[in-house]
Amino acid sequence: MDIQVERGMADGYACGLLLLFSFDSPEDWEKPVREVDRKWGGFLSTLMKQGDFKGELFETRLLFTHGGLPAQRVLLTGLGKKAEFDLEKWRGASSKAGKVIRDSGIKEFALPVGALGAFSEEEVAESFVTGFILGTYQFNEFKTLDRDKIKQVDTVLLLGETDEQVRSIEKGSHAGKIISEAVTRARDLVNGPGNQITPTALVRTCQEIARTHSLGIHVMDVGEAETMGMGAFVAVAKGSHEPGKFITLEYNRGKGLDTIALVGKGITFDSGGISIKPSERMERMKDDMSGAAAVIGAMEAAARLRIPLHVVGIIPATENLPDGKAYKPGDILKSLSGQTVEVISTDAEGRLILCDALTYSLRYQPKAIIDLATLTGACIIALGDYVTGLLANDGALAQRIEEAAKKTGEKVWRLPIWDEYFDYIKSDSADFRNVGTRAAGAIIGGVFLNRFVQKTPWVHLDIAGPASIDKDQPYVPKGGTGVGVRLLVQLLRDWK
Ligand code: BES
Ligand code: ZN
Ligand code: ZN
Repeated sequence: MDIQVERGMADGYACGLLLLFSFDSPEDWEKPVREVDRKWGGFLSTLMKQGDFKGELFETRLLFTHGGLPAQRVLLTGLGKKAEFDLEKWRGASSKAGKVIRDSGIKEFALPVGALGAFSEEEVAESFVTGFILGTYQFNEFKTLDRDKIKQVDTVLLLGETDEQVRSIEKGSHAGKIISEAVTRARDLVNGPGNQITPTALVRTCQEIARTHSLGIHVMDVGEAETMGMGAFVAVAKGSHEPGKFITLEYNRGKGLDTIALVGKGITFDSGGISIKPSERMERMKDDMSGAAAVIGAMEAAARLRIPLHVVGIIPATENLPDGKAYKPGDILKSLSGQTVEVISTDAEGRLILCDALTYSLRYQPKAIIDLATLTGACIIALGDYVTGLLANDGALAQRIEEAAKKTGEKVWRLPIWDEYFDYIKSDSADFRNVGTRAAGAIIGGVFLNRFVQKTPWVHLDIAGPASIDKDQPYVPKGGTGVGVRLLVQLLRDWK
């Protein structure tokens, strides 16, 4: 999709559709809406006075101007009460408008962008583009029937009144586009089926990104991982015919910048292994590489935005399948850290591939490690479908993440890792067991990972709930969400 920025006035602009946003009272209208109203003989005011359009949040009304304006149509979209307005509502309204325009079969539209409430035109532009692109996302790659019925907007034109405004809008929309395309990349990977999105396919995607944006890339196969001593990662990978891969992407290497390590769980299908899962809803387990997808998206966006940090993305990628060569309950594994793990359930495989990835990340001496993983069903039980569980060994880093999440609208909630929890993963025969009891499942996952980061500030994000959803959210269609990409990018942008 093409996003253009031009200098122009909404009331004088000739186009197929002009998009306007309205709070629930005409007194709160921004200048472009007031001017369109004046030019149109008070038509919009009358509409509101009569109650035909109330300006409620996400309310839309498509109007034909019939010569009353240079634009052929106007789409009015409600923003609700001005006092309650924020960028999250704005992204939702932008998405709603985008879907109405797309579904009407309109290919091109224009909208005036200016400061809105407390937000600058740059923020308004970035969040419009984000809400619009993410809200109109569709996954059609594998549909062969009725392809001609698929509707899509081709061009969006953002109008600024002054040259200075135009520059700010360009800046905001540029960032919004890069970030949304990174989320789209992550969603495509999550929605892609397990027979296509294999560890090898993740390698191909990473290679393409590395080539395009000059990132460093290093890929280990299972043999090399074994030689290196990654006994936990290798155990999970060896039960699968599809070759496992251990991928490292690196941006801004050797420039003396702060290092941030991003680690993503890349289980391209989780059957549970020998501790096999019930078959009901097992197809969802193609999303068990959502942490990896978030890291890939964030690496791509970080490079395109030229964020001044050394960012290392680490992705252990493998399937988890039962097989004659598969690892088994009771097995004892030697992790890269040297610590041993007794396998209680082969379905707690995420923490096994991640523990080696976390140990590996320490080689880069990062200032912070953030891992993302669809780690536990227990996290969904605790927090629901839309919330990411946060566990941390460092309050300041946890707070940075919470602040970034507040900005992007991705909900995170911190869970404790008190000393008592470590008892649950004590093993009679090894250093740790890979599961506890049924108690505090999401916390125990984090507690296990905590044993592999030493003293480095670390945050674990359990995205089992929000990685894919069954019901549309304002700008997140059902299916893979790309959760974590925007959060990570915001964290990196705000890093000081
Ligand atoms: N990938 C699953 C977690 C999961 C479950 C994600 C449901 C999304 C939706 C993970 O590998 C797993 O199976 N975890 C086990 C851990 C248990 C054996 C301690 C779980 O949650 O049951
Ligand atoms: Zn599992
Ligand atoms: Zn899993």
